[in-house]
Amino acid sequence: MKRTGQLDTLIIEHSGPLKGTVQISGAKNAALPILAACLLTDDESVLEGVPHVTDVATMCSILQILGMDAAWGDDSTLNVKAQHHHGWTAPYELVSMMRASICVLGPLLARFGRARVSMPGGCVIGPRPIDLHLKGLEALGAKITIDHGDIVAQADRLIGTTIHLSGPFGSSVLATANMLMAASLAEGATIIDHAACEPEVVDLANFLIAMGANITGQGSSTIRVEGVVRLHGVRYRIIPDRIEAGTILIATAMLGGDVWVHGGVAEHLTALLDKLTDANVVIERLIGIIHVQSDRKLKAIEVTTQAFPGFPTDLQAQMMAMMTVSHGVGVVTEKIYPERFMHVPELRRMGAQITQEGANAIIKGVERLGGAPVMASDLRASAALVLAGLVADNQTQLGGVEHLDRGYEHLERKLSALGAKIHREQATANGERTVVPVGVVAATSGSHG
Ligand code: EPZ
Repeated sequence: MKRTGQLDTLIIEHSGPLKGTVQISGAKNAALPILAACLLTDDESVLEGVPHVTDVATMCSILQILGMDAAWGDDSTLNVKAQHHHGWTAPYELVSMMRASICVLGPLLARFGRARVSMPGGCVIGPRPIDLHLKGLEALGAKITIDHGDIVAQADRLIGTTIHLSGPFGSSVLATANMLMAASLAEGATIIDHAACEPEVVDLANFLIAMGANITGQGSSTIRVEGVVRLHGVRYRIIPDRIEAGTILIATAMLGGDVWVHGGVAEHLTALLDKLTDANVVIERLIGIIHVQSDRKLKAIEVTTQAFPGFPTDLQAQMMAMMTVSHGVGVVTEKIYPERFMHVPELRRMGAQITQEGANAIIKGVERLGGAPVMASDLRASAALVLAGLVADNQTQLGGVEHLDRGYEHLERKLSALGAKIHREQATANGERTVVPVGVVAATSGSHG
């Protein structure tokens, strides 16, 4: 994957209704822990449906440092297998690019009895503690210290036990992932209490089961893992990205139109689909396809983010963009990351009327937004600004596109195939701008994911 592009800009024009069919890529947030789980065996695993996004490239770089070979095969297939040496240190340069790097901790400890992973730092979407990860691994018998900003974990053997994963904002997705991976090779049974129920956690559990792990209860808040001695390589297809599907559904709601979202799994998006229906959008739930129709006459709604099956925090910014052009006053309450509102000032620059009070935002719908130069601050905020730009008058230039590229596989190409007026430009060495050819993905920066 070519890494360029911090100078990329998306040029977005007011667009009419979207029409056609779109294929959703594999889920970034399922692919990342599943890639980490490949550390649990020396065998080759073949992962299908891996999205070409920079967070995946970062995870591949980490795996390479840890002694794995990760090579793209056809299109979205990634072949991962151990090389002849093993490492157990995930360095600051890579961990600081992507917080999801923390999920190599569990598999390294389970497999090699030791791990050194740089401690993830601050994050643009608010505090992101890792206490639940450390508490859980300690309960399994690991000794953990912090040395020069690194988490150093050691365990002669991990022993199954009961782990409670509830924090002040509910369970933790990646802490549950870390426990699943560590417990799969631990001695005896582990009960993960207050486990996260997100579809990406279920996908990781199913991947581990395919590798030979003994796991039951995934998708509920109590997961049981009976440790096994060895796991083996496997061929596995990653679930479709519910957040990408949700972003395109919201885009269609805002721009109007008639779109068939292939790979949209309705059961993964119930909270969003119910809210879109409340807002006057017509949704048809088929097997593996979501059909959306909208006449743009949207009603204001109230949304509170919660753990699955509640409304996902990763669709909060996009939903807020929709409310800026809905009729009436909408409310967003963010209960997972109370500071995840970096998109608000940028939406205001486009004419949105938003008042923020703590973790609540009150959005008074306006007739029209106005295009403006805006800056993406994080992955989902950048998607929200793309959507706002498409309904705004005149042109919007979105900078900070490298954030979008961390988690969306060619969002602008998918939207433009549906009729949206959006393209990518890149500054050349002499300061001119050129349209970026198909296939180039920008570099990563910042720290979330
Ligand atoms: C995952 O992050 C996702 N990342 C995030 O997606 C997503 O926003 C988040 O889950 C919530 O759904 C990946 O899957 C790679 P958490 P994760 O631990 O697991 C608190 C995106 O845009 N907490 O479930 O790191 C935490 O502060 C990204 O794709 C603790 O208190 O999130 C938050 O309030 C961004 N202690 C809540 O729990 C801990 O040890 C849920 O966070 C860990 C978390």
